[in-house]
Amino acid sequence: MCGIVGYAGEEEAVRVLLKGLKNLEYRGYDSSGVAIADGTHLFLEKKAGRIENLERAIDPNAAKGTCGIGHTRWATHGAATDENAHPFFSRYAKFAVVHNGIITNYLALARFLGERGVFLTSDTDSEVVAHLIDYYYTGDVLSATLRAVKDLNGSFALGVVSVYEKDVVYGVRKDSPLVIGRGKKGNFICSDLSGISEDCEDFYTLANGEIVRLTPREIRLFGFDGKERSFSFEKTSGLDLAKKTEGAESFMLSEIREVPTSLAMTIESYPEEEMKRLLSGKIGRFCLIGCGSAYHAALLFQAAMRELCGVRTEAYVASEFLTERWDPSGDPLVIAVSQSGETADTLQAVRKAKSGGAKVLCVCNVRASSLVRLCDAALITRCGVERAVAATKTYAAQAIHLLRLALTYAEISGKMKNEELALYKKELALLPEKAQEAIELEGYLSDVCLRVRDAEAVFFLGRNADYYAAKEGSLKLKEISYVYSEAYPSGELKHGTLALMEKGVYAFMISTNPALHEKNASSVAEVKARGAGAIAVTNESAAGLFNADYAIAIPDCPFVFSPVITCIPMQFFSYFTAKYRGCDTDKPRNLAKSVTVE
Ligand code: G6P
Repeated sequence: MCGIVGYAGEEEAVRVLLKGLKNLEYRGYDSSGVAIADGTHLFLEKKAGRIENLERAIDPNAAKGTCGIGHTRWATHGAATDENAHPFFSRYAKFAVVHNGIITNYLALARFLGERGVFLTSDTDSEVVAHLIDYYYTGDVLSATLRAVKDLNGSFALGVVSVYEKDVVYGVRKDSPLVIGRGKKGNFICSDLSGISEDCEDFYTLANGEIVRLTPREIRLFGFDGKERSFSFEKTSGLDLAKKTEGAESFMLSEIREVPTSLAMTIESYPEEEMKRLLSGKIGRFCLIGCGSAYHAALLFQAAMRELCGVRTEAYVASEFLTERWDPSGDPLVIAVSQSGETADTLQAVRKAKSGGAKVLCVCNVRASSLVRLCDAALITRCGVERAVAATKTYAAQAIHLLRLALTYAEISGKMKNEELALYKKELALLPEKAQEAIELEGYLSDVCLRVRDAEAVFFLGRNADYYAAKEGSLKLKEISYVYSEAYPSGELKHGTLALMEKGVYAFMISTNPALHEKNASSVAEVKARGAGAIAVTNESAAGLFNADYAIAIPDCPFVFSPVITCIPMQFFSYFTAKYRGCDTDKPRNLAKSVTVE
């Protein structure tokens, strides 16, 4: 799983590739590397760790050439070492290959190669590809690559350069994303557009089973059968690369500050008539799918549908959906939620739902993604690119689209009275403003985190929609700060978790439903009685009810909407805790923003 980029053009390839890799680093940052083809030999440099390590290692006098491939890695097979970094050379450095995906039969292929005297130098599943292409080469690189691809099981996007063809890069796609970009100063392949959009005017997304041959002046597309295919480009204009806000220290911090704008842009873009038409169709049940924060956003739709419409929905972690015997009967509308639209588990789950005949709507931040292409309809969140690994503004935007969708269903199904509906719609429209008020809590949260940064563990507690919000708060904290954390329904505390409450541990209570404040306040009291600390996020109107060490008041709103607001103090909490513990808040260890392997 990783990011790949390839370039054939007029500029020094090393500069272009490094720029692309920096844009793709959110797909993994365990190691990186480049291979440059100068027409007679291949230059290779690869290094474990961040791209800066690679940049330092490259000798600019040796890395000459205007054609090459690059890779940034999230380790699946083999540790994050220089040896396991991509690109991989074939024997005698005739071919260099970068790979995103997993070659599931690599052990059998390694055996096959070994029997022919070709031995691997790394622990990866990817290296076999370079050797296979070399093994099948008899004078034509395209044919050799196509022949090698026939032997590969699993998922792969590949970039290939060789000593045999000057200025030629190949890109291959099967079940891992790959786009072609066309720019004024050259042509590109890339895992996704964010890597190259600044330098490209047009793009084409490869379909499964396609291979592209790029030169500085020509782009030719073939099927895996070797037959040339016609294709047309789309414009890249309108793609927006996230910039750090002036003065912000990290992408994560600036992206939290962008939550209100993302919410406002997302609500404004909600395609009401299209969603009314979609929901007026025959729908017997709703089924949601997502991973990580996207799954947590899906849970908010579940709460809203239950509380506002009295309708039960199923929400699945995508990888679990794949393990279950799912019954597609009863006219389900499947809703897949994903920031990137490239998460392998989510894409597989959608394929499974579709193969059962289900209609699929997605909520996604990337219009040109595999998910949007796969689904019958899409709700696009308008956040711009999110760079930090931890989802912040996109979680809030997914939530607001899904809550709006629940209201549309309430309207067309007659599940809610008109006056009530009007009130909810009005409240929803106020969320960006209320989110802005929550942004003002940044300084206070920073102070709180200075005091609680040494917490041994933090338990996030809530009931109903607040519990779903707690799950996201807990995920955020553990992924960014590595502090041990779990989310529990507050009422469940006394059934086990209370045993862990002691000095040095904190309970982070979210309580935004007035009907539940008293119960939640009792839970806080129980925690404090055992010596643990307590932080409470509540409505302004409930301030004072909670005997917490730190009280955070957010503007009042209907409680099923409140996760859109409570996520902000929780995001600040994770960010500052991580910062004060010396963690990298944009690129936490062992994680990647886009998980493109199952
Ligand atoms: C990774 C990221 C999470 C994200 C999840 C789903 O695990 O680290 O932040 O929520 O993938 O990603 P998606 O792009 O499908 O929303």
